[in-house]
Amino acid sequence: MTRRALLGATGLGAVAGGGALVAAAVREAPTAPGGAGAAVPFHGPQQAGILHPRQTHAHLAAFDFGVRTDRGRAAALLLRWSTAAERLTRGEPVGEEIGPPGSRAADTGVALGSGPASLTLTFGFGASFFDRVGLATARPEALAPLPAFPDDRLDPARGDGDLFVQIAADDPLVGLHALRTVQRLAHGEAKTRWVMSGFTTAPVPGRTAPTHRNLMGQLDGTANPSPADAAARDRILVNAPGTPPWLAGGSYVVVRRIRMLLDHWDTLPLEHREQAVGRRAADGSPLTGGAEHTAPDLAANRPDGVPVIAYNAHIRLAAPTGNSGATMLRRGWSYYDGLRPDGTPDAGMLFVAWQSDPRTGFVPVQRRLARGDALGRYLVHEASSLFVVPGSVRPGGYVGQALLEDTPS
Ligand code: HEM
Repeated sequence: MTRRALLGATGLGAVAGGGALVAAAVREAPTAPGGAGAAVPFHGPQQAGILHPRQTHAHLAAFDFGVRTDRGRAAALLLRWSTAAERLTRGEPVGEEIGPPGSRAADTGVALGSGPASLTLTFGFGASFFDRVGLATARPEALAPLPAFPDDRLDPARGDGDLFVQIAADDPLVGLHALRTVQRLAHGEAKTRWVMSGFTTAPVPGRTAPTHRNLMGQLDGTANPSPADAAARDRILVNAPGTPPWLAGGSYVVVRRIRMLLDHWDTLPLEHREQAVGRRAADGSPLTGGAEHTAPDLAANRPDGVPVIAYNAHIRLAAPTGNSGATMLRRGWSYYDGLRPDGTPDAGMLFVAWQSDPRTGFVPVQRRLARGDALGRYLVHEASSLFVVPGSVRPGGYVGQALLEDTPS
């Protein structure tokens, strides 16, 4: 199908542009970025939003196709989303060309004049996507369901889904506008299955490391692999020989909603909290000394023979050294969704981890953590998803194009 035909494919009427608002939005679109955050190009060596430093606000969302989906309709939706993402990440409104004239303007103008705000949209596919579009034989083996872990308390309604999008921006309005746009463009084709929204601190001027404080008060992200390191990048992005072209430069993302038992945690003595992680709360330095980026000495003992970093400390159990080199880029956000029925805070972390293969990344580490992580006593895993994120999108093309157009039925 041609690009024009795909954009005009079924299900577009309800999201079509053509209204006066869109025309005004196009006229008033800023030519230069607004105050908060430069543009992060949608087109690059991989999808944006994986290696880029974490933005302050995020919406994670999954969608399920309607009953009539097929390969062509999926392609049309992905082209609409990709075309919109390209415009929105430049700080421009979604234009009329995204669909034939119809009842609803393509852009509501909600984020008009806010600038790009470092907006990224990153799209992925769940295991069920491949069944829904008739491409079950093309489903990568690494997309096999994650195993169940002890003490998981997962809500299936808030996990998995045919399609995934991570929307992140340094301006909450820009992020929410992008989410609403993605939802409107899916109208008639795919329904929102779940949305989870999070935030983190704004980057502190002068800090070189992209670490942020989480709701337990810890600096989070210290031991993350550096995207500038080629070997580390190969553990985050899929580049192994034999990778199908649609997946080259892509990744796998694990998304977990992990509630923190904050009312309990916040009452613990500082020493206990630091022992649970193995790092100092104030500056993130390992308990064996130095500064935030000093390597922890896991062999160091106190004079009484007890390890300085406890056997069940989070960083000991999660470190690549004890997990056959398992590496992932942790790039999550905090969430606060008010109070639970029992009056405790519904708050924690939207854990988002990127890796070239979850079977050698997230799975072995979580298996080990689930067996005895000292931090785990104060955490409840409430939702879980795994998505494959295709490689880069070519200008004018769409996410997953090579998969949908070049794979034989
Ligand atoms: C809400 C849940 C979690 C919290 C609050 C948390 C917190 C932390 C903190 C404070 C650190 C030390 C600083 C750093 O390197 O970032 C850390 C390290 C780490 N965490 Fe977590 N974490 C959580 C869940 C997880 C999960 C589910 C995994 C993977 C299955 C994981 C994997 C890691 C890894 C690989 C490291 C680096 C270890 C190292 O090499 O030193 N974490 N985490």
